[in-house]
Amino acid sequence: MLGQASYDSGTKQTWRGWQWNRIVEHLPGYHPRIGAAALKRLCADKVAVYLPGPDDLDRPLVISKGFRNENLIAVDVCPERVKGVRKAGGIAVCGTLQETILNWPEGMPLDVVVADMCGGFNKTIQCMIPIMHSTLDVGTVVAVNLLRGRDADNSVRKTMSEVYPSSETANKHRGIHFAYGVLASVIHGDKRWPTFPLAERARISAYLMALVNPVFYNYKSGNNVYDSVVFGWPWGGSQAKVVRKEIKGYAVVNAVKSIIKTRNIRSRLSAMRAVRTQKLHRSRAAK
Ligand SMILES: C[S@@+](CC[C@H](N)C(=O)[O-])C[C@H]1O[C@@H](n2cnc3c(N)ncnc32)[C@H](O)[C@@H]1O
Repeated sequence: MLGQASYDSGTKQTWRGWQWNRIVEHLPGYHPRIGAAALKRLCADKVAVYLPGPDDLDRPLVISKGFRNENLIAVDVCPERVKGVRKAGGIAVCGTLQETILNWPEGMPLDVVVADMCGGFNKTIQCMIPIMHSTLDVGTVVAVNLLRGRDADNSVRKTMSEVYPSSETANKHRGIHFAYGVLASVIHGDKRWPTFPLAERARISAYLMALVNPVFYNYKSGNNVYDSVVFGWPWGGSQAKVVRKEIKGYAVVNAVKSIIKTRNIRSRLSAMRAVRTQKLHRSRAAK
């Protein structure tokens, strides 16, 4: 184990299994009666970005599902953890997940984003939503795991429960809040929204929620409760362009710039891409 905290517990491993099973089920092309070989083929070319933590315990699990080692891009702010992944033969980038997604190399696929965070529904998590709008395409699978109950600022959650007439937004589950945050990112700037009758707002948000198709989970670790959500990113193509244009003026998007400091992330991502290409060539030549 590198660093101080370890995430090597039975509870966390059960959650990891839940999370990656749901991720696979959200991949475009998945269907419940798919055979094991076809499922491995479906996973084989998918590129996933995730936070490895001290032991990189996701990697062996995900490889067992058919993902290629070369397509698992670990991102961590902790240089020691990045070194550990590389030493074990994996690909890793040192930086924040937020700046990585925001600056994702043009033309490189990004099929899965996993944010297994140590913190709560704070501003750096909320700003992932406009960042996702700027990069993700329809079908990208998003998984978020957040700590419950330590948010420095409750204002976004409060606004959400006012905007959405749903008992779910009053729930404590941070995964539910993240999913509603994704919906809020497209509805919030619409000045007509507050003028709609409550029943109409409930109907529209239920419809949008079904598009996002989220699944939820939560577990206890010591005194902490963690909340998870997995869903498919619903916007792409020309629709994404319209949404991106619309949200450009929102305050939260501008706030992102002051929260996410970009420190040479582009050159680090180019290096990651070159290493991946090299490794893919080598593993194909070895077959
Ligand atoms: C909870 S651990 C990941 C555990 C791992 N997924 C597992 O299942 O064992 C979170 C890791 O992400 C790193 N981290 C936290 N916030 C980050 C961010 N915004 N960007 C990149 N790394 C981050 C931390 O240094 C830590 O190593």
